[in-house]
Amino acid sequence: MIPDDKLRAQLAHTLQKFDAPELGELYRGKVRDNYSRGDRILMVTTDRISAFDHVLGTIPFKGEVLSRLTSFWFDKVKDFAPICVLDTPDPSVMVVKRAEPFPVEIIIRGYITGSLWRDYLAGKAGAYGIDWPAGLRKDQKFGAPIITPSTKAQYGKHDEPISEKAIVDGGLVSAKLWAEATEVARALFRRGQEWAASRGLILVDTKYEMGIVDGKLSVIDEIHTPDSSRYWVAKGYEERFAAGQDQQMLDKENIRQWLISEHGFSGHGSPPPLTDEVRVMLARKYIEVFELLTGERFESPEGSVDARIRGNLRSKGYL
Ligand SMILES: Nc1ncnc2c1ncn2[C@@H]1O[C@H](COP(=O)(O)OP(=O)(O)O)[C@@H](O)[C@H]1O
Ligand SMILES: [Mg+2]
Repeated sequence: MIPDDKLRAQLAHTLQKFDAPELGELYRGKVRDNYSRGDRILMVTTDRISAFDHVLGTIPFKGEVLSRLTSFWFDKVKDFAPICVLDTPDPSVMVVKRAEPFPVEIIIRGYITGSLWRDYLAGKAGAYGIDWPAGLRKDQKFGAPIITPSTKAQYGKHDEPISEKAIVDGGLVSAKLWAEATEVARALFRRGQEWAASRGLILVDTKYEMGIVDGKLSVIDEIHTPDSSRYWVAKGYEERFAAGQDQQMLDKENIRQWLISEHGFSGHGSPPPLTDEVRVMLARKYIEVFELLTGERFESPEGSVDARIRGNLRSKGYL
């Protein structure tokens, strides 16, 4: 694990954004700066962190952790999941084929927790078109994974729950494609859970984005990263669950909880600034997940991420 003083030193060098208009047309997402040209997109995963659909600041090494984890996972599922990566010219950059993205995200859950738990308690979980049984307990495991789709909101808006029926009836995705997409999602999630379990982790839930590339279904964006997924430490899950204690979380729920409990912020109004202490704490979590999942030590040179990316893109002829 990178020592805290190195994480602290990196606070000043994080990648807040990547400006390179010569790469094409820019779409700045919450986390990625995406440059499109023709049928290609060059996706730079910055160090930005978002929660409740607000960008809060940057976390040392986060972009590299996410991008490398996505490559790691794509490699693990490439035998059955169609993906669209063409090149990774830098550890934080992927060049992908442009997809026609579905206007919905496929969220699949093995356990009831997080926003679903909050909605269930508030009696608002019916929006997914699912008849939830009464008496579920926080962090309880489902008999089989459950899909709770959401709409993909424009920047600054919130993703909204939607039912599978509304997706198909509303023509957002055809019935045939939706069946194919959810089958792929279930297979991805099964593979993800199995791998996580072999590394002492529980893949609790995750979000997939899919789209059509060259007429075929493809998984796009990121997969099984700590931004798009929840991970818990497997050891002691049952005991903590039985005792009604919180699970040991290695994912973005840490920042959500910090925002809710320390600042009463859950998406409305303007978010509080991140302290350096919480930025370092979160960097540690991201790196810990990377190291646990891959079995590798995370190493990356300190210093300007922007300069490193520019150097790599130049030497590979992108700039
Ligand atoms: N292969 C692809 N084709 C088209 N769009 C893609 C592809 N891969 C990722 N995207 C889109 O690029 C954006 C990535 O930036 P991100 O910061 O994750 O955005 P967001 O704020 O929408 O989550 C997302 O909108 C994602 O749907
Ligand atoms: Mg995204």
